[in-house]
Amino acid sequence: MTDNTSAISRLLHHRSRGLSKGEAVSLPIHATSVFHLPGEPDGSHFYGRNGNPTVEAVEAEIGILEDADVVCFPSGMAAIASVFYSVLRPGDTVLVPSDGYYNVRNLLAAQFEPMGVTMRTCPTADMAEADMTGCRLVLIESPSNPGLAVCDIAKVAQRAKAAGALVMADNTTATPLCQQPLDLGADFSVLSDTKAMAGHSDVLCGHVATRDATLFDGVKTWRRLAGAIIGPFDAYLLHRGLETLEVRLGRMNTNALAVAEAVQGHKAVLAVNYPGLGDDPFHQVARRQMSGFGPIVSFTLASQANADGFISACPLLSPATSFGGVHSSAERRARWGDAVPEGFVRFAAGIEPTRDLVAAVTQALDTLS
Ligand SMILES: Cc1ncc(COP(=O)(O)O)c(C=O)c1O
Repeated sequence: MTDNTSAISRLLHHRSRGLSKGEAVSLPIHATSVFHLPGEPDGSHFYGRNGNPTVEAVEAEIGILEDADVVCFPSGMAAIASVFYSVLRPGDTVLVPSDGYYNVRNLLAAQFEPMGVTMRTCPTADMAEADMTGCRLVLIESPSNPGLAVCDIAKVAQRAKAAGALVMADNTTATPLCQQPLDLGADFSVLSDTKAMAGHSDVLCGHVATRDATLFDGVKTWRRLAGAIIGPFDAYLLHRGLETLEVRLGRMNTNALAVAEAVQGHKAVLAVNYPGLGDDPFHQVARRQMSGFGPIVSFTLASQANADGFISACPLLSPATSFGGVHSSAERRARWGDAVPEGFVRFAAGIEPTRDLVAAVTQALDTLS
C-alpha cells in the first residue's frame, strides 16, 4: 500500500497482509491465559498478563490510527490511571481540566493527593493560557465532556514543553479520525474506547498511545505489574468496532451537526454547544485542529422538568449515560454533579438516518411548554 493510503484502509487490511494460506481472515480470539512453554522462555507468549495475540492485533490496528505505539486497557479510566501511575511521583503537580470527565479528578483526589501529588484545575477554554510552572503533567480534554469547550492543543503542548511538563490528551470525544493530538505535540493520546472506537455500547475498553519509547515502556510495565489487562473477548469486540469506525463516525458527526442546527433555532432551547456550529465560540480553533466535530451536542433547556420531558418524549433517544454508540442517547448531566444548569442535556448522536433523528428531536422539543 502506498504512503498516502488512508489509515483506515491500512487498518482494514492490516491482518490480511500477513496471512499464510489457510489461516482465518477474521481475527481469532485467543482465549487463553497460558501458552505452550517448554524449556527456557525465549520472548514468545507465555502468560496472558504479559501479552495475548488478540490484544496485540488490536493494539497494532489502533497504532495505525494513532501512528504510535499503543497499550490497550480494560477501560478508559484504566488507561488514564496508567499514565498517572507511570509518570506522577510524590511532590509532582498535575494540571487537569475543571470541566472534563469528572472521575479523572476523583481518581487524583482519592489516590494521588494523599500520596503528595498536587492537583491544579483550569477550565478547558483557558488551558492554552494556564500557568504550567512546576507541572509534571498537563491533561487536556478537547472537546471537553460534557460542555464541548475546545483548547488550542498545539499551543498547550508548546507551553507545557517550555515549562518541562508532559501533555496527555484525552481524545475520547473526537477519536484519532477527527483529531491527532500527537501530531499537535501531545506526549500521550488516551481514549475511552468504550465510546465511538468500539462503538456498540457492549464493552468497556481504552488505550494509551505515545511515540516516546520510554513513556511507552512506563505505561506497559505498569499494566503488566498492576494487571490491568483487557481480555481477548473484549479486545475482539473493540477490533470489530474499529472496522466500521469511519462509517459510523461519519454518520454520527453528520447527525450531531444536523441536531445542533435544528435545536439552535428552537424556542425551547436556551443555549447550544457544538464546535461544528459556525457561531460556536470554539469553532475557529476546532476547525484548525479537527477534521470532524464529534458525536456529542449539548444544549440547555429551561428546567430539569423540561430536560427530563424532552428525553422521555423523543422516541429515538435512549436515556443513558455514555456516548459514541450506534443508538442516539441523552442525559441530564446535573444528575452526576457536573457544574452545568439543571436543564443541561448531553445529546449523543447515533447512526439513525439523519432526517428521522432531526424530526424526532424537533417533535420532542415541540412538546415542551
Ligand atoms: C472523556 C472521557 N474520558 C474517559 C472516560 C472514562 O472511560 P471509561 O468509562 O471507559 O473508563 C470517559 C467516560 O465517560 C469520558 O467521557
